[in-house]
This record gives sequence, structure tokens and C-alpha cells, in this order.
Amino acid sequence: MSRLIVVSNRVAPTQEGRPAAGGLAIGVLDALKETGGVWFGWSGEIVGEAGEPVIEKHGNVTYATVGLSRRDYDQYYRGFSNATLWPAFHYRTDLARYDRQEYAGYLRVNAMLAKQLKALLKPDDIIWVHDYHLLPFAQCLRELGVANPIGFFLHIPFPVPEMLRTVPPHEELVTGMCAYDVLGFQTDADRQSFVDYIERGHFGHVSEGGMVHAHGHMFKVAAYPIGVYPDAIAQAAQQFSDRKPVRALREAMRGRRVIMSVDRLDYSKGLVERFQAFERFLLNAPGWHGRVSLVQVAPPTRSDVQTYQRIRQTLEGEAGRINGRFAQLDWTPIQYLNRKYERNLLMALFRMSQVGYVTPLRDGMNLVAKEYIASQDPADPGVLVLSQFAGAAEQLPGALVVNPFDLSQMAEALERALSMPLEERQARHADMMGPLREMDLSKWRDAFLADLGHVATAATVTRNA
Ligand code: ADP
Ligand code: F6P
Repeated sequence: MSRLIVVSNRVAPTQEGRPAAGGLAIGVLDALKETGGVWFGWSGEIVGEAGEPVIEKHGNVTYATVGLSRRDYDQYYRGFSNATLWPAFHYRTDLARYDRQEYAGYLRVNAMLAKQLKALLKPDDIIWVHDYHLLPFAQCLRELGVANPIGFFLHIPFPVPEMLRTVPPHEELVTGMCAYDVLGFQTDADRQSFVDYIERGHFGHVSEGGMVHAHGHMFKVAAYPIGVYPDAIAQAAQQFSDRKPVRALREAMRGRRVIMSVDRLDYSKGLVERFQAFERFLLNAPGWHGRVSLVQVAPPTRSDVQTYQRIRQTLEGEAGRINGRFAQLDWTPIQYLNRKYERNLLMALFRMSQVGYVTPLRDGMNLVAKEYIASQDPADPGVLVLSQFAGAAEQLPGALVVNPFDLSQMAEALERALSMPLEERQARHADMMGPLREMDLSKWRDAFLADLGHVATAATVTRNA
């Protein structure tokens, strides 16, 4: 059997008890633990000069990680990946900036990582590359003569062509993406945006089965929505329900309802709008004062990128203002915690809450939404209030779907969720558990790798013909 090589910028922490906040690390770790293989990427460390990869084996996963120099980190990660691509791909062109030197650094680091990986490769390896940091990675490997199958999965949205064109080197980036054998997206809308870019720009055409012919290559383009393991989550949520932090929250709430939100502290997550909609709900529904709190867990992320510093300040201001306006001596409306928690503990917190409040302005999938549903007690489940702009909205029809730019609608949805009769909650929960089980994390991985296997075999046959 071929060995699976996963490549991503962020690699999950190798030590127990160090939670990774981020859908990629969570999803890939769960998926890779079962198949075994190699996980190659950035160690998370800034070093004097990038050296040879450090190899560590934990269970059946071998971690091969490299440090980045300060210049590489600034240009490739902090710069082009997170100050250009991330905002533009999340439709925040107002926050995106472009710097040619940072883009040169992005290409340089991709080439450097490809060279490091090449030294570890065997002829039978299958390579699966993840996320926006590594769009040109296959092209770099091909230039080094690597002929192995290479697939790519984008965890974040792929923007419509008009939006993509705001990123100055868009054409070069898409040309690089065409060097993969399979391009996977979270939703069909993302897949369509890529196809539109190719077709409208006359770079190529799409034939049957999602095969794209462009820039002299033939590759498959499809949607593979990432999932979770709902039964394992349900079990963990139940088992951890009696842990100290969960008990502490339950006791502190003294019978009050809990609206629960968990996100990285990212402007794409719609946290400011979410707090303001909660404020509007409190204004509209004074009967709920003292009877419900919003618990927002949001660990800082990318805190050396300026736009992230600003969102943090704004949010702190909003939490303080709203609490100052409504708090009573024995009631704090918003509990705002800037920290990570062990994943199983988060699932137990989801289970003890009555509402999951997940309202990103734009999100590739949003695993938290799926985790929230999976964590619930089917006999007395909470209600999910979910943004229509999360990829997960396509798959969770039982959620109360809202437009996160409409504060009044979100406020009404909170009131409806808090007052929803048990039967309706049960029915909505059951409607969502089916699709969650059918499209779980192993389906995501297996569907992608099966397509990569087929396309790569066909490509080899064509090359040798
Ligand atoms: P993103 O990939 O943009 O961060 P997702 O919702 O897809 O968004 O994935 C986030 C993942 O990180 C989820 O699995 C979630 O449980 C985890 N996570 C988010 N916040 C925390 C936190 N405070 N502590 C631990 N894990 C977190
Ligand atoms: O998929 C979303 C994602 O951007 C991942 O690529 C990333 O690993 C995660 O969120 C967390 O961000 P970062 O790696 O920059 O800390």
C-alpha cells in the first residue's frame, strides 16, 4: 500500500494536552491517525535559518517539521498568506494588502519546503497538500522532477473570480493550482468559483466528471465537504460532562441558559456582529435579562498581524460596553474567554448549553457547527444558530440559518432558539445527525484519496502512452 504524505503549513501539536485550534489541524489529525503516514510542515518555530526537517514518530504518524526564519515567517505566513490571501478569500478586500516582496517570500518558502520534502519521498508515496499557504506547492515539486500523485484541499472559501482578481498575482496562483492532480474544495459553490475563473478567463475547459483541462494539464476538481466523527464526539461530550470546568460553569450559571460560541479570534468569524446581535436581543427581550448568558471562547490567533490586533481591541470594547450596559450584580451577560481548551472539554461545554451561536461572515466549512450538533444529548438537544455564509450551512438544514449582517434577524433567531419546544429541537437535531454520520471525516478523506488514486493512474497511463 502507498504511504500517505500530508503537507500543511500548520501541523497539530505532537504533545498531549496542547490543543490545536483550527479546523485543518483537527481534521487532518483525526484522518491521518487511522491511515498512518507522514505529516510534513512548519514546526511553528522561528529559527535562525531553516534547517533539515526534525522527524518524530507518534503512533503511526511520523511528523517531519521545519522551522522558518524570521524573514520567511514575515513574508510567507504573516504577509502573503495571512494579510493578502486570507482576507481576500474571505471577501474582506478592505483588509487585504499586497506586497511584492512578501509574495516573493511566499514562492521562496513553497520552493524551499518542496525541496525539503523531496528528500523524504519514496516513488509510491501519495501526496496530499492542504490550504492556501501552499497553492504553488505541486508546481514546485514538479519542477524538481517529482512524479508522485499530488492532491490539494482548500479548507477556506475559494472566492468568485471578481474577488480573486483583487489579488494581483491571481493568474500565476491559479496556474500553479493546475499542477495538482485533484483540487478539492469545501462546497460546490467554491468549486464553481474555481471553474468560473478558468472558463471565463479562457484558461481551459471542464469536461465530464469534473475533469479540467487547463494550462496543459488535466486534473479533477470537486467538492469534498470536511466532516467530523459524530459518535466519538457525542461520547466524549458525555464523558467529560462531569469535569471540573464544566461543573464550574454549570454551577456559576445557577440554572441560567447558556448560548455558546467557540472560534479562533478571527475577523472572519463575525464576533463583533454576534455580540451586537446579542445586545439587540437583550434590548428586544427584557424578560431574558438575568436568565441567559453568552459564553464566547476565542483564543487569540495570528496576533502579530495588525488586523487581528484591531479585531481583538474592538471585541474587548464591545464586550465591556454591552456588559456595562446590562449587567446586574449577580449576572454577567457576556463571558468572554481568550483561551484554548482541550477538545473533549469543549464538546462537554457544547452539550451543557442550550444554543450554539456560530455566525461567521464567511467560512470554508466551520467544524464548530458540526461539533455542536454532534455533542448534543438527543433527548434534550440544544439549537444551532448558523450563518448562511458557513460552508456547513449546506449540510445542516435543521439549524436556524441567519444572515450575520442582519443583527435583527440574529436577535430573533436567539429568542426563537431559547424558546423552542422540545419536540422541534429533537426533530431538528435528528435531521442533522443523519447527514453528519453519512458524510463523516473518513468519507472526506477516502473520497478525496480515491479520486486522487484514479486521476493519478489515468495520468500515468496517458504519460506512458
Ligand atoms: P477554523 O479552521 O477557521 O479555525 P473551524 O470551526 O473549522 O474553524 O475549526 C476550528 C477547530 O478548532 C474546531 O475543531 C474547534 O473545536 C477548535 N477550536 C476552536 N476554538 C478552540 C479553543 N478555544 N480551544 C480549543 N479548540 C478550539
Ligand atoms: O482552515 C483554516 C485555518 O486557516 C488553517 O489553515 C489553519 O491551520 C487554522 O485555520 C489556524 O490558523 P493558523 O494556522 O494561522 O494558526
